Amino acid sequence: ARQEAALTMARRILLTDADHRDLTLDYLKLLTGRQRLRPGAAREVLVVGAGVAGMVCARLLVAAGHRVRVLEANRSRVGGRVKTFRGDLWQDPRLHAEAGAMRIPSSHVLTLALADHLSVPRRPFHLVDVPPSPDLASGDARVVYRSWTGEEFSTGSAPAYTAPKGLGGRLVHVNGQTVSKAAYAADPRPVNKSFGWDSGQTAAAAFDRALDTARAYTMVRNGDGSWSDKPIDQRVTGMAQLLYDLDGYSLLRYLQESEGWSDAQVQAVGTLENLTSRLSYGFLHSVFDASDINPAVTYFEFSAGTDALTEALAKDLPIERGRVVTRVRFDDGGVTVTAEPETGPEDEGCEGAIGGDRCEYRADAVVLAVPYAALRHVDFAPLLPYGKRRAIAEIKHDTAHKVLVEFTERWWEWDESTWRAKLGADYRPAPHGDAVPAVGGGCVSDEASRFVYFPSHPSDDGAPGGIVLAAYNWAEDALRFDSLTPADRHTEALDHLAGLFGERIRRYATDRHVSQSWLRNRWALGEAVIETPGQLLSLGPHVPAPVADRLFFAGDHCQPRYHAWIAGAIASGVEAAVQLTGG
Ligand code: ARG
Repeated sequence: ARQEAALTMARRILLTDADHRDLTLDYLKLLTGRQRLRPGAAREVLVVGAGVAGMVCARLLVAAGHRVRVLEANRSRVGGRVKTFRGDLWQDPRLHAEAGAMRIPSSHVLTLALADHLSVPRRPFHLVDVPPSPDLASGDARVVYRSWTGEEFSTGSAPAYTAPKGLGGRLVHVNGQTVSKAAYAADPRPVNKSFGWDSGQTAAAAFDRALDTARAYTMVRNGDGSWSDKPIDQRVTGMAQLLYDLDGYSLLRYLQESEGWSDAQVQAVGTLENLTSRLSYGFLHSVFDASDINPAVTYFEFSAGTDALTEALAKDLPIERGRVVTRVRFDDGGVTVTAEPETGPEDEGCEGAIGGDRCEYRADAVVLAVPYAALRHVDFAPLLPYGKRRAIAEIKHDTAHKVLVEFTERWWEWDESTWRAKLGADYRPAPHGDAVPAVGGGCVSDEASRFVYFPSHPSDDGAPGGIVLAAYNWAEDALRFDSLTPADRHTEALDHLAGLFGERIRRYATDRHVSQSWLRNRWALGEAVIETPGQLLSLGPHVPAPVADRLFFAGDHCQPRYHAWIAGAIASGVEAAVQLTGG
């Protein structure tokens, strides 16, 4: 049974089937209107959840002639974990910042092709800081996907975008030492030694090397040290074997047992590479994360805010907001869904209430495209199959926390002489070396705030200020931020920035800050599914499985390769539409 599950999950991860069909290719064509769902009798479909997964699914079904209605719990907006803070949240209402999805790796072709198809403008997102320059304003609109079938999908002929060389001017601040990322890369030993790890490798290189054992299951190493994918049949069997061998491993156990790492190395690399809070999670998640989040990856962001994508998806869809689904009844004749009005305050904190007059909806089928944890609070009759109930009750949902702080001017783009000119007689040097003017990139620290990200672009409409993601935390780190009051989160994050860049930054801070806890968001109930050891095989196969040809499931939790990414939500939404219309 474990072998069977490993094969099923391997196919899901690689988006393929028993015939080695390339589903990414099919999904790209469906999303961009080059291919259609299988025609059939029109069905009445209720989609629950107006996040990316639900709206993608709804749009495909509408285009295929089905009668679709979308129910969304949130009264104030659609989009789910795509959420942009804008307008009068900020002192300068021209600014916006992302509470959720903010960066799209260039390999996430489903997301980029969909956005381009909907004419949602995008531009580079700089994970590594680069010099400010006007030519960074737009990335090209070309998406290229080369399938193992030999087929190529592309949306244009512009040359591929290549990111400029990074500066490495942002800071690493651990164990009381503060150095630039470039200085750490040039000589990692002093920082490493502060953890008791006497190594001349960077943390990133050490972690990358540790993943070679996992890579070798599905890839071959070339003479020059680079890796290439094995043929698809071997990739599927290799991935299944990887799952079989290592799904039971936490990241910590893998690093200790398989790679022989010392505690000091685990702590050093974990702190610098954002792994410490997740050492107890399933190892495979870190394998996927590492290929999506690393300085070699090129990213895009949506120029007008990520919610430009979800607003474009919502356009012309029949969405009823403020409808909280509480009950689903299904039988041979169809599905009855009960929803109650959302009556709490407009914000999405945990204090809201539901109640008032219920409504009932009747349909042939329902697509449940809400976070998996939310299904725990829906009453299903008849009972869902045992495996699915277990998955709903047990699968691990991680949390993430972001603190966003507004500044009246973009001091991170200044060099030391600009600081001198701005401050005049009040000028004091920066605490950790001269300012390196740059956009994008961020700092890593072992303080509570952990990760700082600077905006990749100035505001489009000439606003002089900007919003810094002053603390971005996952898992245990995020849980601790969750416990603070909003005011204390701000103080913590601002004190941390002042420690890194000097008290001089405080004069540009407005009193505006917004924080987002995805765990304490009543409709999200967590950041995303990130399995604990063993769950990928024991629970994973049950997550997306349809029930009785009436209930279908969508959301990034259904796509194990892309948990916590828009690409996973999109793939799952397409898949549910395909299942519903008979493949
Ligand atoms: N996509 C999100 C990001 O860019 C999260 C990715 C990883 N998520 C996670 N829970 N490990 O930060």
